[in-house]
Amino acid sequence: KPIVLSGAQPSGQLTIGNYLGALRQWDLMQDAYDCLYCIVDLHAITVRQDPAALHSASLDSLALYLACGIDPKRSAIFMQSHVPEHSQLAWVLNCYTQFGELSRMTQFKDKSERHNNNVNAGLFTYPVLMAADILLYQANQIPVGHDQKQHLELARDVATRFNSAHGQIFTVPEPYIPPVAARVMSLQDPTKKMSKSDDNPWNFVGLLEDPKMISKKFKKAITDSEDPPRVRFDIDAKPGVANLLSILSGVTGKTVAALEAEYEGKMYGHLKGDVADAVISLLEPVQKSFTELRADLPTLQSVMRTGAEKARSRAAITLAKVNDAVGFVAP
Ligand code: TYM
Repeated sequence: KPIVLSGAQPSGQLTIGNYLGALRQWDLMQDAYDCLYCIVDLHAITVRQDPAALHSASLDSLALYLACGIDPKRSAIFMQSHVPEHSQLAWVLNCYTQFGELSRMTQFKDKSERHNNNVNAGLFTYPVLMAADILLYQANQIPVGHDQKQHLELARDVATRFNSAHGQIFTVPEPYIPPVAARVMSLQDPTKKMSKSDDNPWNFVGLLEDPKMISKKFKKAITDSEDPPRVRFDIDAKPGVANLLSILSGVTGKTVAALEAEYEGKMYGHLKGDVADAVISLLEPVQKSFTELRADLPTLQSVMRTGAEKARSRAAITLAKVNDAVGFVAP
């Protein structure tokens, strides 16, 4: 089976953006692929985190992965920090990545502006650690949202460069970006990506939010003042409505064209109410199962320990090849 690896940062509550862009695909890929899914806690500390909050968000993420259908019988689920090979490979790959390449990463540029009192070296080399996550497992397909595309390209470039220097060591990975809802936008500023670390909670919908709050957030979502108002998909002229249509399409599986036809002559309020209802019913079973799992620490521990064991034994094989290729003496 082809290999899949993906991960999410435990830097806040996962959102419907993370779900539609990534987690749902992770779930769907579990039968046809050999899957590894991690909680990238090492990546999370590139921005200052409160330790207690990070600790609890990491366990929340684990319980949420399971609640969203990620199945420890089929997939390895683990904490990135439990597999030290990620950091070890990242060091080697740092020496195969150029300063100029990392300077061009748009996520680095954004984050270094937003957190300009803490532009640390980890934030700069973040994409190299991400390349290590992927290349360690010889992953073929990487299910991610649209915002990770540039990081994936870097991982491909680094893999190709290393291979041309040292022979066929790494599989060159392909991004798998879902056809709909790969870029869920902020509800209050639909020209900006929905982000779990946003300071304004009205911008995003968390997977664990109360249904009443979810309704309120969608009702308050920014649309536009087209006269007469029309529910149609036009990202440039009507980014708010386009975003609501994408979310509804992602959640219901109906095409955007079918939805446009369905909402012909209807008001924005109608669409907002339906999006809220669809998201709420999608999340109801997820939230229920989350609550049970989050209270069951022994199960969470056993899942992450088994996952890390499986991951480590595979990671060690690649790392040994890399160490040998660069000329390190075997221990
Ligand atoms: P992160 O934690 O920001 O997001 C996790 C996943 O969710 C996707 N995503 C979105 N999709 C659609 N709309 C949105 N608004 C939205 N926001 C986030 C992201 O694209 C991602 O797939 N660097 C990664 C984590 C990572 C990783 C990896 C991913 C570390 N190592 C190796 C894949 C493979 C990140 O910060 O994702």
